[in-house]
Amino acid sequence: MKRDSYYVTTPIYYVNDQPHLGHAYTTVLADVLARCQRLFGRDVWFLTGTDEHGQKVQEAAQKLGIDPQTHADNTVVRFQEAWQRLEIRNDDFIRTTEPRHKAIVQEILQDLYDRGEIYRDEYDGWYCVADERFCTEKDLVAGNCPECGRPVQRVRESNYFFRMSVYQDWLVDYIQTHPEFIQPDYRRNETLGFLRKPLQDLCISRPKTRLAWGIELPFDKDYVTYVWFDALVNYVSAIGYRRNAARFAQWWPAIHLIGKDILTTHTVYWPCMLKAMGVEMPRTIFAHGWWLMGAAKMSKSLGNVVSPLDLMERYGVDPFRYFLMAEMAMGQDASFTEDAFIRRYNADLANDLGNLLNRVVSMVGKYCAGRLPAPPAGAFASGPAADLFKQVAAAARGLQAAVETFTLHAGIAQVIEAVRATNKFIETQQPWAQARAENPGPLHATLYASAEALRVCAGLLMPLMPTKMAELRAALGMENPMTVNPDELAKPEVLKPDTPVAAPGALFPRIEAPRPGTEPKSASPAAEPKAASGPGAGPGSLPDGVVSYETFAQVQLRTAKIMTAEAIEGAVKLLKLGVLMGETRRQIVAGIALYYKPEDLIGKTVVVVANLAPIKLRGVESQGMLLAASKGECLRLVTIDGDLSSGAVVK
Ligand code: ME8
Ligand code: MG
Repeated sequence: MKRDSYYVTTPIYYVNDQPHLGHAYTTVLADVLARCQRLFGRDVWFLTGTDEHGQKVQEAAQKLGIDPQTHADNTVVRFQEAWQRLEIRNDDFIRTTEPRHKAIVQEILQDLYDRGEIYRDEYDGWYCVADERFCTEKDLVAGNCPECGRPVQRVRESNYFFRMSVYQDWLVDYIQTHPEFIQPDYRRNETLGFLRKPLQDLCISRPKTRLAWGIELPFDKDYVTYVWFDALVNYVSAIGYRRNAARFAQWWPAIHLIGKDILTTHTVYWPCMLKAMGVEMPRTIFAHGWWLMGAAKMSKSLGNVVSPLDLMERYGVDPFRYFLMAEMAMGQDASFTEDAFIRRYNADLANDLGNLLNRVVSMVGKYCAGRLPAPPAGAFASGPAADLFKQVAAAARGLQAAVETFTLHAGIAQVIEAVRATNKFIETQQPWAQARAENPGPLHATLYASAEALRVCAGLLMPLMPTKMAELRAALGMENPMTVNPDELAKPEVLKPDTPVAAPGALFPRIEAPRPGTEPKSASPAAEPKAASGPGAGPGSLPDGVVSYETFAQVQLRTAKIMTAEAIEGAVKLLKLGVLMGETRRQIVAGIALYYKPEDLIGKTVVVVANLAPIKLRGVESQGMLLAASKGECLRLVTIDGDLSSGAVVK
């Protein structure tokens, strides 16, 4: 990759899945980084696509009675349409069933085979169809896939293997000497932890007798390629590897954005494959956290939860993109709730940004006949306007740094801080009082500087909210599309005095919190109707947010004694608890691992919601929920004061 090139990728998603919040997050993130880098003046290539081979696609097609290619063709449009709706501007969309990809996979395989990097042997082990991955006996968690918790299949057959094990020492050394290679650093440590065990060779084939839907091995037509070996190659096949050396050299090495679920394939398999191929390592593999829907799922029975993509339809694409980027600290998990969405929307977009535009437009309307005043000479050299601009310029630099260091959320927060500072600037300058003075200079300085600060902040938020920010710019008389980089953007005195200023209507109308059970205006079929409020309490007979006694009485609370507690591999926040409730034993998965050590829980008598429908959390069944109180960083379980046998009714 040339110094000024930026090649960013998303995982290629399994083609037969429904696009969901998680896919949307990675893809919006890549889109925002790509748009930012374009503004910074880099040449950008942004690749996404779909993973179309493997057992899951074959099985889904079989069920439908169609061939896998037709099935892939039918389902790929769901991703393509979703990305259009989300204003994703990818430069290419690769499908692994395209000839341009298949040919390269086969050439790589033949080359590795010819050079002895691939050999034939007997495979005997476990396979998770859902994740398309092999698991050793040791990996299994309670006999299930360690990644997703679903059952695995026993596989015993003759296969081809890639000599991955020989690269172990090299890889450990590479990771340790290249801190930017795997990010954030806690993921780097996770990979290094994985590499403390001996690395196995990688089985890269499936016999056609079992799986026909894949890329045929060029040296044995009875086999197809293991889907991960096929899929990872997309990152190079899409940019001309072995076809167009100049094009490949322009873009490679890549920045791979992935979720932490596919860390091992990207930070172990892929580097070893590239090493064997003689290709430079990716620049960075950034593994972000998970969007959790746990809480939302539970309240689904209340009928007040809509799927995240429905929220996007209801409140708009740009606010949705903004929320995803601002809410999730890059790398960490975040929880998606409609409440959190509305809170952030109202605070950052309606109150801060939208309000600032309204104020600027209405004051320019009132005091300057709707035309931007000229700032008095020297207004940006020193004094309050200059101070405000220092903060605005710092936000511009902060956002640039945040894009480079994968801390986008922090950069966004800095921009919103600058918006707040501008609102504050208006409050302290008091243009309504300045307007009464004889000298119009201070009033003009205040209005012009506010408009200027707004122009810069809107420009910085353009990659996140391209449509809304274009509207905002138009309101200030700016042309679209915006082409300046943040440094130029943050220079003052760009807006032309005498420009007519007019708002396009409320940019971000405030959302009044939806009341439980009320049907949103644009209710989609996915939004479930309100649950009946219990006998005798017809809907509408109680004030909003109030449940009848009968409804409450349906919730069974029982005491339970914690008998066992253990961590769940790969789920840092969850503990698996075995509780005794009277005579019955139950398994409960609780999100309390950050607050309690397993050994400290044993013997405690807690309160359990006993008649909650079981759900699976990270593949582990949870038969109930513990009551806990939390505030800020602290969470404590509700326990029983004194001695009481388990199974007692709580009321
Ligand atoms: O793994 N939170 O595809 P996939 C955040 N085909 N991101 C999430 C998420 C969540 N809850 N759920 C999914 C595959 N994602 C392979 C990839 S690449 C050569 C092959 C996002 O359809 C996240 O980016 O299961 C995750 O890594 C990806 O979707 C997995 O998509
Ligand atoms: Mg997956």
